[in-house]
This record gives sequence, C-alpha cells and structure tokens, in this order.
Amino acid sequence: MEALRIISQDHSNLWRLATTIDHVAEEIEGGAPIDPFFFHSVFEYLEQFVDQSHHPKEDDYLFRILRMRSTEAADILDRLQTEHDAGPGNLKALRDHLAEAAKSQAAASGFAVALRNYTTVLKGHIRAEEKHVFPLARQALCTEDWAEIDRAFLDNDDPLFGEKAKAGFREFYHRIASLAPESIGMGGQSIGRLQKETVPTKAEVLLRVNQLESCYGRIKALNGISLEVRRGETVALVGSNGAGKTTFLRTLSGVQPMSAGSIHFDGEDIGKLRSDLRVRRGICQTPEGRQVFGPLSIEDNLRLGAYTQPKNQVEGDLEKIFAMFPVLKEKRRLPAGTLSGGQQQMLAIGRALMGRPRMLLLDEPSMGLAPLLVEEVFNVVKTLKAEGMTILLVEQNAFAALAIADRGYVLETGNVILTGTGQELLNNEQVRAAYLGM
Ligand SMILES: Nc1ncnc2c1ncn2[C@@H]1O[C@H](COP(=O)(O)OP(=O)(O)OP(=O)(O)O)[C@@H](O)[C@H]1O
Ligand SMILES: [Mg+2]
Repeated sequence: MEALRIISQDHSNLWRLATTIDHVAEEIEGGAPIDPFFFHSVFEYLEQFVDQSHHPKEDDYLFRILRMRSTEAADILDRLQTEHDAGPGNLKALRDHLAEAAKSQAAASGFAVALRNYTTVLKGHIRAEEKHVFPLARQALCTEDWAEIDRAFLDNDDPLFGEKAKAGFREFYHRIASLAPESIGMGGQSIGRLQKETVPTKAEVLLRVNQLESCYGRIKALNGISLEVRRGETVALVGSNGAGKTTFLRTLSGVQPMSAGSIHFDGEDIGKLRSDLRVRRGICQTPEGRQVFGPLSIEDNLRLGAYTQPKNQVEGDLEKIFAMFPVLKEKRRLPAGTLSGGQQQMLAIGRALMGRPRMLLLDEPSMGLAPLLVEEVFNVVKTLKAEGMTILLVEQNAFAALAIADRGYVLETGNVILTGTGQELLNNEQVRAAYLGM
C-alpha cells in the first residue's frame, strides 16, 4: 500500500498550497496587489504536478483496478475522475481571471473568489478520496493488485512521476514558497552548515524519561510519561491543545518541577539539576511563542543564547548562525521586535543553537505561521537533523512533524497514547482523523 502513502503525502503538500492560496486570496480581497509571477508559478505547478503527474497515475492504476474489484466504488470514482478531467479547464479559467484582475478591484475580487472556489474543490476532492476511496481500496484490493499499483507508484524512472520528476517538483514548491508575498513567504533565504560533524551512534539513548509526572497545584498535567530519544534522532511529540507538550519540555529544561519519575540525559540523572546547569549539559529549548526579547537587537538576542558558553567561541558561532539565516545578519542591529513571525522563529532557533545544544527542544516552531513559512521552518529542522542534531520537536502541526521525525509520541491529557515511527503514526487512522484534519 505504498501508493496510498505516496498519495497522502502529495495530498498534504497540496493541502498546504491550497491553504496558502486561500490566504493570498484573502489579502487580495483586502486590497493587496496581485503578483502575477507568483500565480503563474502556482498554476504551472498545479498543471504539471496535479494534472499531468498525480491524477493520471491515480486514474491509470489505483482507480482503474479498484473499478474492477468494487462496484461500490463506481460512484465516487466517477465523481473524482470527472474532477480530474475538469482540472486543466479550471486552471485555464483561473489564468483568464488573473489576466483580468489587473484591470480593476472588482476583477481582482472576482479572481479571489475564483481562487477560493478552486481550493474548495481541491480540498473537497482530497477529503473525498481519503475518506471514501482509501478505505474501499484497502478492503477490495488483493495483494497482486497492490503489487501492480505500488510498482507503478514506485517507478523511479517514470519521467512524469519518478524520482527525478519528484525532485523537480520539490524544488518548484520551494520556489513558490520563496515567491509568496512578504507576509506569507520568507522572501528567499538559504541555509548553510551550522554545527560540527557529529557521528550518530545508533542505539545510544541520549534522553531517557521514565514515568514523569508534573503538576500545577493539585492538577496533574503529566501523568507518567516515558519516552526515549536516541542520539541523532528526531522525535516528534504531537497532541492537541492542553495535552501537556509544553509542560513536558519545560520539565525537561528544569523550569517546571517534576513530582515523580526520572530524567536521564547521557546517562546522568538530571532530574534535580537547576535549569542553567541543564543548558550547560546541552539541553537547549526554543520556547513556545518564540519569546525573543523584542527591544534587544537581533545580535544581542543571539549572544544571550551563548551565556553558558566560553567567550572565545561566540563570534565564530554567531557567524555560523548568520550564514544559516542571512536575513538575521542583514538586520542584526535592529530590535528583534521588528522581525516578522517567521523571522522571529528563526531567531529563537538561532538563539538556542548558540548554546551548542546536544539536544534541541523545539516547542511549536510553526505556531502562528502561514503555511508556506511553516514549510521553511521545517526545512531548517530538516537541515539540523541532516547535520546530526538530536531533536525533540513538539508540534500541533502533526503532519509536518511526523513527516520528518524518525519516531513520534502522541500525547493526550498528560499520557502517551500512541508511539511508533513517524511513518507508522502518519498512516494511523486515529492520528489522521484526530490530528491531520483529513
Ligand atoms: N501555568 C499553568 N497553571 C495551571 N495549569 C496549567 C499551566 N500551564 C498549563 N496548564 C495546564 O496543563 C495542561 C497541559 O498544558 P500544556 O501547556 O503543557 O499543553 P500543550 O500540549 O503544550 O498545549 P498547547 O498545544 O496549547 O500548547 C493543560 O490542562 C493546561 O491547562
Ligand atoms: Mg504548548
């Protein structure tokens, strides 16, 4: 059933793009100027990726074979294929609207409405496919069917669907992110290397938490949490509001007391250590809501992150952070409060990195950011992961977090209710329904 995994991944990317388009449509309705270049890129991406690659593959394999096995599937497949066929025409209509949009505010509003109609259809299509076609396919298709479908979806030499095409689409997607309006996109930034090479020793547990409890007064917020993070691993902690994610990170950092259980870091029992001593051990956190010091300059915010570090390494580290986030270098003398939300998040991550973490705790780095910016923040996390950083990532954006995590834990009212690899959790029906909004 690899095909279903690939399709759901495509869906999630498209969903993010659709949400971004909605956001831009809203800005246009508010009178914001229209950037034709951005929209040309988006339309071209949709045409090449959705209409010429994603849909034909579904039609030719999953849908065709499912029709043979299940009469029940006919109605929904008819609808979805009609929508597939309508795709190019809908895009053409959008392009016509775009050409008109420059002429008057009324035409611009018409364009915004057309954009929204397009995304409504796209989102409805994705939802219907996941809700109705996936379960039918799982039920009706036999092993040989899946072998044939998966082979087609995993055919890396397919010029329209294979590895090369996918890499092209990924790059295209990032380009769209960098083209998105200032309030939505990052305005293009590159990521350089940051830390020293670390050699991940696979099975070595860096953090071991056992039956951890923590209370606010008489209310128990953590109810006996056990969790492990191995060296070099990225572990995601997901769960809805109030599940206890922030409390858990704060208890690890030592700013929130624990009432039972134990925390071992690199073999040492750190449960009773002061928080500054835990920072010295290499546990560095970016707090929920970023919490940069608004009146202080960007550079000083970064320097604060290095307060436990020997002075002679600070300048060098600062340059590394600036290489990673050029926008911070440009604005280094400005108060941090002048940065956009996405930039403040980069600053918060940069500040944590200045402490030379051995384990980075990230509390909802994507919170409050527009969808394409979320993507860029996750790219930063991916880069750090690729460089060997050990990361504990707390997120409400469960999809993105699980997609890059080696393993994940699902938290509900202070308890771990599910754990598995990132992929296992992503494919878990319960997780998809509760946290992925699909
Ligand atoms: N300072 C506090 N005083 C009392 N109760 C608190 C406090 N902070 C959190 N809580 C409670 O502890 C529980 C866990 O909250 P926590 O902030 O850790 O959840 P979370 O998973 O991080 O949620 P969110 O996704 O909203 O950030 C919630 O029931 C919350 O109401
Ligand atoms: Mg929280």
